[in-house]
Amino acid sequence: MHIESVSCIDDLRRAALARIPRFAYTFLAGGAGNDAGVRRNEQELARLLFAPVGMATGRVDTSVRLFGRTYAQPFGFAPVGMANLAWAGCDLMLAETAQRESLPYVISTAASTELEELAARAPDNCWFQLYMLRDDELNFALLDRVAAAGIEVLAVTVDTPVRSRRNGSIRERFEQPFQPHPRFVLDVARHPRWALRTARAGMPNLMNYSRYVEGGDIHKVAAFMKAQSRGGVSWDDIAMLRRRWKGPLVVKGILDAADATRAAREGADAVWVSNHGGRQLESAPATISVLPAVREAVGTLPVLFDSGVRGGEDIVKAGALGATMAFCGRAPIFGAAAFGAAGVAKAHAVLADEVRTTLAQIGCRRFADLSPAFIHRGEPGQGERGRAAPAARAA
Ligand SMILES: Cc1cc2nc3c(=O)[nH]c(=O)nc-3n(C[C@H](O)[C@H](O)[C@H](O)COP(=O)(O)O)c2cc1C
Repeated sequence: MHIESVSCIDDLRRAALARIPRFAYTFLAGGAGNDAGVRRNEQELARLLFAPVGMATGRVDTSVRLFGRTYAQPFGFAPVGMANLAWAGCDLMLAETAQRESLPYVISTAASTELEELAARAPDNCWFQLYMLRDDELNFALLDRVAAAGIEVLAVTVDTPVRSRRNGSIRERFEQPFQPHPRFVLDVARHPRWALRTARAGMPNLMNYSRYVEGGDIHKVAAFMKAQSRGGVSWDDIAMLRRRWKGPLVVKGILDAADATRAAREGADAVWVSNHGGRQLESAPATISVLPAVREAVGTLPVLFDSGVRGGEDIVKAGALGATMAFCGRAPIFGAAAFGAAGVAKAHAVLADEVRTTLAQIGCRRFADLSPAFIHRGEPGQGERGRAAPAARAA
């Protein structure tokens, strides 16, 4: 497929599938168990319909105010570990696109590029995602580096108490400790452009930790991170991070209204409704299903949303059900895997255009004005009863 023919994120996904080795695609696209959770996130978003109203004309405003600044779009790039497996340089492409287009880009603890290098490419737009390790000295050393790099927003991920079982990756034998096998070698050989580029750049590593590990190769660093895994994050940990981190603190991986309330009480500045893109628990609820209850539980606190976002309509649906901003994990990664930097830019352009046209089509001129009334409930006349008349909203 030519990039000019790409119409949507699924086109990027299909192009990615053709261009990168199967083990890498399976790692990026797959989820826990046999991927039912990945599909559920997408299906529950697709099942929702809008309740459009007419007669709202004029320019559409997609911007979002969050943590004291204005972002151009109601979506950002979620943290993705080992993203350079998609295409060497992927992390930098995400950072540069975020900086250029005024989106948040969340650097993963497990990024395949050092956080300092990413923050230098996107000085205004990087956030940092923390996987807490067992050793608090290491956690603090990392947080000191994050603050020194000028990053203000910290998202701590709480939905990875254990390593999950991803059957696709088990079948591909792409598991720690990794042992190359004949099928893997063949898989790589069948994708020479990926192979050459990756060989030139070097196999992706967990770069934020490589400096703490003697020798620093991927096997040693991965073993180090596995040994250091905290095995879950407690409320005491959140309280400790709150004392330690001066900037906005986000708790990522919330699926429960009571957890959301508790996070707010512990001083979180936002909660992030996420099931890790279906990668941790196959039978987790779809995030769009739990979003309304979380929104109701936390009042006006910002609620971030991800898992299953494959288009602008999904982003607008999340906005209508209470999300302050949506995040995309796989969508821009498929772009990078398919077409490198141009593919990340394409993913952004597609999503931004879809958000704009969706808002215009449903008769909502500002993303910030979305409400559940824009979601179809199967009742006639919902538009008249459930929200202000379009002319009033357009004023
Ligand atoms: C390949 C891959 C790696 C990921 N790595 C991380 C990570 O290091 N830290 C984290 O908090 N979430 C990680 N996530 C989860 C994303 O941040 C996000 O929650 C999820 O991808 C959203 O779902 P979506 O891919 O359907 O958009 C990862 C997701 C993928 C697909």
